[in-house]
Amino acid sequence: MTALGSTAAGSTPAGSTHAGSTAAAPSIELDTVSFAYPDGTRALSNVALRIEPGESVAIVGQNGSGKSTLVRHLNGLLRPTTGRVLLDGRDVRSTHVARLAGLVGLAFQNPDRQLFAGRVSAEVAFGPRNLGVRGPALEERVRAALEEVGLAAEASTNPYDLGYSRRKLLALASVLAMRTPVLVLDEPTTGQDARGVGLVRDVVSRAAGDGRTVIAISHDMRFVAESFRRVVVMREGRVVLEGPPEAVFGEAAWPELRAAYLEPPLPAVAGARLGLGATPTEAALVAALVAGN
Ligand SMILES: Nc1ncnc2c1ncn2[C@@H]1O[C@H](COP(=O)(O)OP(=O)(O)O)[C@@H](O)[C@H]1O
Ligand SMILES: [Mg+2]
Repeated sequence: MTALGSTAAGSTPAGSTHAGSTAAAPSIELDTVSFAYPDGTRALSNVALRIEPGESVAIVGQNGSGKSTLVRHLNGLLRPTTGRVLLDGRDVRSTHVARLAGLVGLAFQNPDRQLFAGRVSAEVAFGPRNLGVRGPALEERVRAALEEVGLAAEASTNPYDLGYSRRKLLALASVLAMRTPVLVLDEPTTGQDARGVGLVRDVVSRAAGDGRTVIAISHDMRFVAESFRRVVVMREGRVVLEGPPEAVFGEAAWPELRAAYLEPPLPAVAGARLGLGATPTEAALVAALVAGN
């Protein structure tokens, strides 16, 4: 694995609580985790990764590289075949399921594996109610979460009357309503139009601003470069490259990125040609192009 540049934690001091969340974000450590599915498919090989409280981390990689398998280890949905997953130094194996549910919220890649209720509001209320939230506090959580994903007007709708992209946003709202200090989003931008991607981007920046840890899988390299402080690149069940977006999308890393079947984002390529670095702002790119550099 290649570690590029600094991977500083978020600006929020470790251990701080934030208003909306029930607990402080724990540190997360994957200690040489390997995982094979029951049919023998080896999906993770010796993954070592540490994520500090308040970090925002994007996980990228080709389909089948093990991204979903990795994040399913963070809330105990999957247990390592060998190795350990530690939250604040404590093995997830010995952490009670209910406590884990209050710490790590995971929005599934496929919303239809997550959604089950007959009403949007009931779907979103389920998680926080399980955490013991009741009455006006519960209503407020449901309202706020639906507002955040642009579904406030759909509280009474049957989830299956929503299109795929809005079912994905609903699955995201269900997790947001739990206000867990760790938010894990499996391909939240897949299938979203520009407005949906904008909503997801705002969710990520608000959560990160609140000091929560945000971990998201995405194929949208622009979203990744713009919204995360750290990028983890996976290939064939291994972490092959990681670092801040400036480094991972920087020209020196392109061969390794391409070996993982990923293309650097267009702004990174244009930025390199124009001498603006790997994460230029759109304004800087436009100015340089207009100036004919
Ligand atoms: N339930 C499963 N049973 C057997 N193999 C699986 C299962 N889920 C995923 N896999 C396999 O594990 C590997 C990693 O899959 P996954 O973690 O879903 O990758 P990604 O999220 O990066 O697309 C792939 O080879 C995939 O086919
Ligand atoms: Mg996946």
